[in-house]
Amino acid sequence: MTETIEIKKGLAGVTVDYTAVSKVNPETNSLLYRGYPVQELAATQPFEAVAYLLWYGELPTDEQLAEFVAEERANRTLDENVKQAIDLVPLDAHPMDVIRTAVSLAGASDPAAFDNSRESDLAKSKRLFAKLPAMVAYDQRRRRGQELVDPRADLDYSQNFLWMAFGEEPDPVVARAFNVSMILYAEHSFNASTFTARVITSTMADLYSAVVGAIGALKGPLHGGANEAVMHIFDEIGSAENVGPWLDTALAEKRKIMGFGHRVYKHGDSRVPTMKAALDTLVEHYDARELAALYDTLESEFVSRKGIYPNLDYPSGPSYNLMGFDTLTFTPLFVASRVTGWTAHIIEQAASNALIRPLSAYNGPDERHIDGYVPDAEATVDRPEEAAG
Ligand SMILES: CC(C)(COP(=O)(O)OP(=O)(O)OC[C@H]1O[C@@H](n2cnc3c(N)ncnc32)[C@H](O)[C@@H]1OP(=O)(O)O)[C@@H](O)C(=O)NCCC(=O)NCCS
Repeated sequence: MTETIEIKKGLAGVTVDYTAVSKVNPETNSLLYRGYPVQELAATQPFEAVAYLLWYGELPTDEQLAEFVAEERANRTLDENVKQAIDLVPLDAHPMDVIRTAVSLAGASDPAAFDNSRESDLAKSKRLFAKLPAMVAYDQRRRRGQELVDPRADLDYSQNFLWMAFGEEPDPVVARAFNVSMILYAEHSFNASTFTARVITSTMADLYSAVVGAIGALKGPLHGGANEAVMHIFDEIGSAENVGPWLDTALAEKRKIMGFGHRVYKHGDSRVPTMKAALDTLVEHYDARELAALYDTLESEFVSRKGIYPNLDYPSGPSYNLMGFDTLTFTPLFVASRVTGWTAHIIEQAASNALIRPLSAYNGPDERHIDGYVPDAEATVDRPEEAAG
């Protein structure tokens, strides 16, 4: 008799654990961080306050925020050894490889790396949050043949990030849109990279290992890599008039159109309207009507043909492009934001841990044997039935 096992490919529809960090409700198109709708957070809060909320479960009081911000500003400088490590990575490597390497070295240099207590993990999370902008900004600059720009303690997180990337104080419209993108990217329950971080944490490995693994998972075009893939598609299409014929070919070739579709949201991504509104302010600011026409035409054509809606990467890719970021830097920007959600989940997983180890159904060859092999009777005596692993 053959056993019937139901395989949940891609763990689709499987509920693995509880989380108090965020709630995604595809039915109502809503996303709550610790109970707060993300749209309300994006409209009212600096990213620093949202990071605090994700880690501590409550928005900071003015005093708590001031203390947290002071700590973040004091930790922004790129460490010399991390700068040297970044310089060793070939310029034609993907920036995600640079960020993965930089975070790995930061972990290897932290004497408290093996301390998985909540206090130690919170301290590490806050340091990574403060230092990632310097890593991302410096990598983009060195690719452009530019020098490192030192952080400025008189600027907030978003203003300072843009300052370090471009060496100019950002226009308030740009800093506001950037702040919105950081808040929207920060957290999204058990997505692939967060789940990766939780799997690694479940083995009681350290926080840095979990973040490095999450960066690897985020790199793929089905996850974080989609924001840069959107820009590649825009470059391929060129302008709004080419959308129709381009889509005919792409769909005939069964290509995935990047920036559309979502494993959880089937009627539209809850974060898109907020990011699209931020993109609109940038389109106005930069007078980017051609890009806006291409954006709108591809969206309406694709939605009418396939009924598949844009996800957050669709408006954020063009937004980062207008701000002046290189396309390859888009996914590292996502890392700088999502590190807050990842680390909130790492802390949650560690506090209520169970090793994550699913089962598999074997469908390889039946048991077979090496020709001529004769078992050594002595060596097999007392051998345990099954090896652990
Ligand atoms: C995100 C994504 C991986 C979700 O995948 P999923 O839940 O596994 O859904 P599936 O890939 O099974 O898609 C279901 C159907 O819709 C189609 N589809 C989904 N997204 C599509 C897209 N972006 N372009 C074209 N077709 C798409 C699939 O081809 C599939 O069609 P089929 O039933 O004829 O085979 C998928 O939508 C995708 O690849 N999107 C593009 C990448 C992207 O933007 N990722 C960022 C996510 S936030």
